[in-house]
Amino acid sequence: MTVDASGHAGAAGKAGGASLEFRGVTKRYDSGVGAPGAVNDLSFQVPAGTICVLVGPSGCGKTTSLKMVNRLIEPSAGEILLDGVNVQSQPVTALRRRIGYVIQQVGLFPHLTIGRNVAVVPGLEGWSSQRQRARTQELLGLVGLDPRRYENRYPNQLSGGERQRVGVARALAADPPLMLMDEPFAAVDPIVRERLQDEFLRLQRELAKTILFVTHDIDEAIKMGDLIAVMQEGGRLAQFGPPDEILAHPSSEFVARFVGEDRGLKRLSLRTVADLRVEKMGRPVGLPRFTPGTKLRDALAILLVADTRGGIALDEGGRPRGLVTVDAIASSLTDDPPARVGA
Ligand SMILES: Nc1ncnc2c1ncn2[C@@H]1O[C@H](COP(=O)(O)OP(=O)(O)OP(=O)(O)O)[C@@H](O)[C@H]1O
Ligand SMILES: [Mg+2]
Repeated sequence: MTVDASGHAGAAGKAGGASLEFRGVTKRYDSGVGAPGAVNDLSFQVPAGTICVLVGPSGCGKTTSLKMVNRLIEPSAGEILLDGVNVQSQPVTALRRRIGYVIQQVGLFPHLTIGRNVAVVPGLEGWSSQRQRARTQELLGLVGLDPRRYENRYPNQLSGGERQRVGVARALAADPPLMLMDEPFAAVDPIVRERLQDEFLRLQRELAKTILFVTHDIDEAIKMGDLIAVMQEGGRLAQFGPPDEILAHPSSEFVARFVGEDRGLKRLSLRTVADLRVEKMGRPVGLPRFTPGTKLRDALAILLVADTRGGIALDEGGRPRGLVTVDAIASSLTDDPPARVGA
């Protein structure tokens, strides 16, 4: 039995992105004295080329935080710096053209073809129609939609998952260094969502954009994020850090409850067989075989179901590298986390 699953490595260092910083950002919709803020003194830094996920329960201020970056909403206090420059000091139109935005309900223009939808920003930028068309075709191909089949259709002639991909293609059109994505994969069923997540991570390894990604789903946050900002009621930052750190050391009761009691298992989904120290083996027969990219969580499940204490770790060339045991998987959680950024 051979199992394959791709691990996640960020793409920092390839520098397709801009750095982003929230500095004491607060938003009060109601200016009444003592009114609770929607976002409260939010501070964190996102290095260029990484994915930062804002996660938290409904109403905790995720969308508000996102919209303050492209100035659809102005903060009541604090500042947001894009490549070190306060976004409020920049003309709104120029700023928004540097920021791709994927909104919760996709928001394609129903009366424009898929091709025209993707080319909206390049059109505003005054690109020649030839260049717009080439870019549209390139992007549709990149998100897995054959341009010849999709370019001339209208949004209502696409499935939900296909529309989500067009939304991502449109946000990428003018090659922005920063992408804001508000629950971009929420409106599709779990199987399609998983495929879109995998495709997007693969794309990101090449593009290395800086991405601020909103979800209320902790599993999606762990899968997609190089960094996670856990927010809680009242728009406060509960914890900020890499997924493994948040799972290993939740800073409060709230975070521990939010990430779930199975946080140990979740940490195993961040590690692959390639990260594991393997044991020497004799001549094993009939054991499960694992490719280097197999997540330890999947390997563990397979070992438990197969009722065997060991499986064979294969190297990149498919040759046996050593024995993977349940004990080794369990003790890997005491090791340092694997490098995720720039790996
Ligand atoms: N225009 C507005 N006027 C007044 N209050 C608002 C406005 N927009 C949002 N709020 C409030 O601000 C808080 C944060 O809203 P926000 O949309 O940022 O939450 P969210 O974390 O994105 O939630 P969800 O997961 O449900 O999308 C909520 O309590 C909401 O009711
Ligand atoms: Mg929201």
